[in-house]
Amino acid sequence: MHKLVVNVFNKKSKISKEIYGHFSEHLGRCIYEGIYVGENSEIPNKNGMRKDVVEALKEIKIPVLRWPGGCFADEYHWKDGIGEKSSRKKMINTHWGGLVEDNSFGTHEFMELCDQLGCEPYISGNLGSGTVQEMSEWVEYVTFDGVSPMAEERKKNGQEKPWKLKYFGIGNENWGCGGNMTPEYYANLFRRYGTYVRNYGDNKIFKVACGPNIDDYNWMDVVMKMSHQFMDGISLHYYTMSRGWDDKGSALNFDETRWFETMSKTLYMEDLVTHHSEIMDRYDPEKRIALIVDEWGNWFDVEEGTNPGFLYQQNTMRDALVAGINLNIFNKHSDRVRMANIAQVVNVLQSVILTEGEKMLLTPTYHVFNMFKCHQDATLVDSFIDATEIGINDIKVPNLTESASVTEDGKLNITINNLSISDSYDVETVLTGMKVNSVKAEILTDDMNAYNTFDCPNAVHVKEFTDYKVTEEGLSFKIPACSVLHIEVC
Ligand code: AHR
Repeated sequence: MHKLVVNVFNKKSKISKEIYGHFSEHLGRCIYEGIYVGENSEIPNKNGMRKDVVEALKEIKIPVLRWPGGCFADEYHWKDGIGEKSSRKKMINTHWGGLVEDNSFGTHEFMELCDQLGCEPYISGNLGSGTVQEMSEWVEYVTFDGVSPMAEERKKNGQEKPWKLKYFGIGNENWGCGGNMTPEYYANLFRRYGTYVRNYGDNKIFKVACGPNIDDYNWMDVVMKMSHQFMDGISLHYYTMSRGWDDKGSALNFDETRWFETMSKTLYMEDLVTHHSEIMDRYDPEKRIALIVDEWGNWFDVEEGTNPGFLYQQNTMRDALVAGINLNIFNKHSDRVRMANIAQVVNVLQSVILTEGEKMLLTPTYHVFNMFKCHQDATLVDSFIDATEIGINDIKVPNLTESASVTEDGKLNITINNLSISDSYDVETVLTGMKVNSVKAEILTDDMNAYNTFDCPNAVHVKEFTDYKVTEEGLSFKIPACSVLHIEVC
C-alpha cells in the first residue's frame, strides 16, 4: 500500500499554462504537411492550415507555440518568408534533410496559425547568422503600429494592424548549431541583440536568452551573471535518449531494460531543473526570470525507411509515461519553470499528432496533454507519494510520480504515473483541507509498446477510471501497471 498525501491548505506556485506549450520547426513534415498544406490542398484547411490538426490542438488548449526552430531559426531570414508567395526566395534546409524550403510558411502564416489555435506565438530570432538590424526589424514588422519602413511593408503585405507578440527568443542553442559560441561571447551578443528588440506601444516583449544544453552549469552561471538584468527568461534543452546520442534505440521495438533506461533518463530532468534553478537563484533570488524548457521529449532513431533528417518517430505508452513524468516535474517546479515546449508538435520527435496524407492520429503523448490540461493556470498544492524503487539491474526509478493542483473554482486535480510495466499498486490518498464530494477519473493504460496507427488510430485511448473508493481520509484506488491517471476531486 502506498500513501499519497495531498495538502490543499499548502498552496504553492501558479502552474503557468505555458508549461503545456509546443514547438514547431521547419524540420521534416512538421510545418509542411503536418500543419500547413496550402490553400489549394484537398486536405480540409483554413487559409492553408489543416483543420483536423488545428482542432486537435485546440482541444488540448495549446497555450503557446514556438517557431521557426530550433537550429533552423539561426539560419532563417524572416524577410524571405513574407510577400507574394511565388516570389519568395527558396533555400536548402541544410540542417534537416537538405530539402528545398520555399518559404511559403512565414511570419504571416505563423501568426495566422496562432490566431486559429488561440495560442501565444513564441518566435525564435536569428542571432547565429542574422544581423542585429534583421532581428530588430522583425519585431518592428510584427508589432509596430505607426509610420516606419517595416510597418509599411507589413501593411503592403496585407496586415494593417500589428500583431501582439509576447515571447521572443534571442538565438537558439548558440553553444552548438546556433554559432558554437562560448557563454561569455553569447552573453555579450545577447545584451547587444536584445537592446534592439523593442517594445512598441503596449506590446511588451518577454526576452528569452539561450540557456544551457543539459547539465552545462557553467553556461547557465556565466549567462546569468553577465546578462540576467536584460532577460525575462532563459531556456534549457534536454532530450531523453535512452543510451545517449549514439544509441538512441527504436521508438517501437524496445525491451524492459530500455524502458527503465528511458524512465531513468527522463527523471534526470528533476536534477537539471533543480540545479539550474539554484544557479539562477544566485543572481535572481526573487525568481523574476523564468526557466523555459523550450525543447524536451524523447529522441529515438528515426523510423526505418524515412529520411534521417526528418526525425520522424512513432509514439508508444513509453512516450506517454515520459510526458507524464516531465509534466509532473514542471508542475512541481512551477515557481521557476514557467514555460516548456515539447519537441515537436506534429511528425517530429515526440509528437502529439502524426499525419500521413489526409490521415491524422493522436499519439499516447497527446492523451497525456489532454488529461493534464486541468493543471493549466491552476495552483500547485503540496503532495507527496511514498514511492518504492523498481527497475532492472542497477537502473532504479520510483514506481510512482505525482503532482496536484487546485483550480480557481476549487477542483483538485491529481496526476499520477505508474512506471512499472507489470505491477499495479494500491494507493491510499490522505487529503487535507478538502472534503471529497465527488470524484471523476480517467486513465491511459496499455502494454508498454502499444501505439496508434493510421489503420487503428484509437488503439491507445483514454478510458473512464472507476476503480476507486471514497474513504474517511480521502480516496483509495488501485493504479494499473504502465499508466497515467488523472483524478478530479470536487
Ligand atoms: O528539435 C530538433 C533539434 O534539436 C532542434 O532544432 C535543436 O534546437 C535541437 O538540437
